[in-house]
Amino acid sequence: MPLFFASAPQGIAEPLKQELIEMGLKVVDMSPGGVAFESSWEGCYRANLCSRLASRILKPVLDFIAYQPEELYTQIQKHDFTKYIKPTQTLCVDVVVRDSKLADQRFVAMKVKDAVVDQFREKFGIRPDVDNKDPDLRIHVRANKNSFAVSVDTSGNSLFQRGYRKEAVEAPLKENLAAGLLKLTEWDQKSPLVDFMCGSGTFLVEAAMMALNMAPGIHRHKFGFQKWLNFDRGVWDGLVNEVIEAERTELDFELFGYDIDRKAILKAKENAKRAGVEHVIQFKSEPVATVEPPVEKGMAIVNPPYGTRIGDEDNLKDVYRDLGYTLKHRFKGWDCWILSGNKDLIMDLKLKSTRRHFVFNGGIECRFLKYSTF
Ligand SMILES: C[S@@+](CC[C@H](N)C(=O)[O-])C[C@H]1O[C@@H](n2cnc3c(N)ncnc32)[C@H](O)[C@@H]1O
Repeated sequence: MPLFFASAPQGIAEPLKQELIEMGLKVVDMSPGGVAFESSWEGCYRANLCSRLASRILKPVLDFIAYQPEELYTQIQKHDFTKYIKPTQTLCVDVVVRDSKLADQRFVAMKVKDAVVDQFREKFGIRPDVDNKDPDLRIHVRANKNSFAVSVDTSGNSLFQRGYRKEAVEAPLKENLAAGLLKLTEWDQKSPLVDFMCGSGTFLVEAAMMALNMAPGIHRHKFGFQKWLNFDRGVWDGLVNEVIEAERTELDFELFGYDIDRKAILKAKENAKRAGVEHVIQFKSEPVATVEPPVEKGMAIVNPPYGTRIGDEDNLKDVYRDLGYTLKHRFKGWDCWILSGNKDLIMDLKLKSTRRHFVFNGGIECRFLKYSTF
């Protein structure tokens, strides 16, 4: 069975593991950066189409130690890259190097690219061009302490790019991180959900797609593996039909999105429409200070601004105070999860959290905290 690696935002590996197991994939390892699984190519297609949490599905192809450019070149040549694409297609090499003798990432990328294109030149007399924006084959090279891991990227563009979000506010959450956070809350997908500061609507659209059993990749136009020589269109079409047939059309509860910014609400509505879930979400422009519970009971999730990315900390103190007040006095009995990258602002909620997770959002370590008000 081929081995694949599903990468994920830090803090999300555990729910990603559960998700892959529920998909019927055989998980063989987990690290903070993601989950390794064994599967047929159909399983790889399925993970690309149906994983809400994965950032990419990679296929590891080489692991080796290299200190010198010649060693790197020789090691890369041990894998046959000509089996993925034709010499008339395009490729790119994406490199991250840490604590290694070969420290210059651009040099490593060039050496790997040379080794790969030389394989094509030897076999066909011509070589693939490099396309850094939209290549047919993306090769990932990660090196740590001279130990290299090379994989080919079956996803192409990162899987958080679902295709429904064309409009975003400043500092939107990546879609797969929003889905991962929803999984961490253990939301039952049957109870009303409120986002007090919904921005572009990411939490709500992801939650609606989960509850409607809509595959996260159903609106995407392309995946990396679709351009490869071994792509099996019959298997892919069968899979797409299967997931479309499993979709629900209606829910017997609603989701509610608020934001002080009218433009954000318009964007969120457009995104929800593109995702095909606008009929289950009610959006309204309203500041958190005045929001009343739209139903008796449910769960809230919110990603308030937190200074390091947008806004100014002094003004934000009021926003956090308003959020804390609304939760304590109007949303009694609700569970609320808050994602914030600013410890000081969290104190301004004047509430005590009952659970916490640490996750990374755009390189910033954030707390994801649960508050239960009685
Ligand atoms: C970090 S963004 C949320 C991003 C969102 N999770 C997304 O993925 O697009 C924070 C949002 O809080 C909203 N906001 C700021 N102050 C607010 C307030 N007092 N009441 C309601 N919304 C507020 C902003 O307009 C902004 O859209």
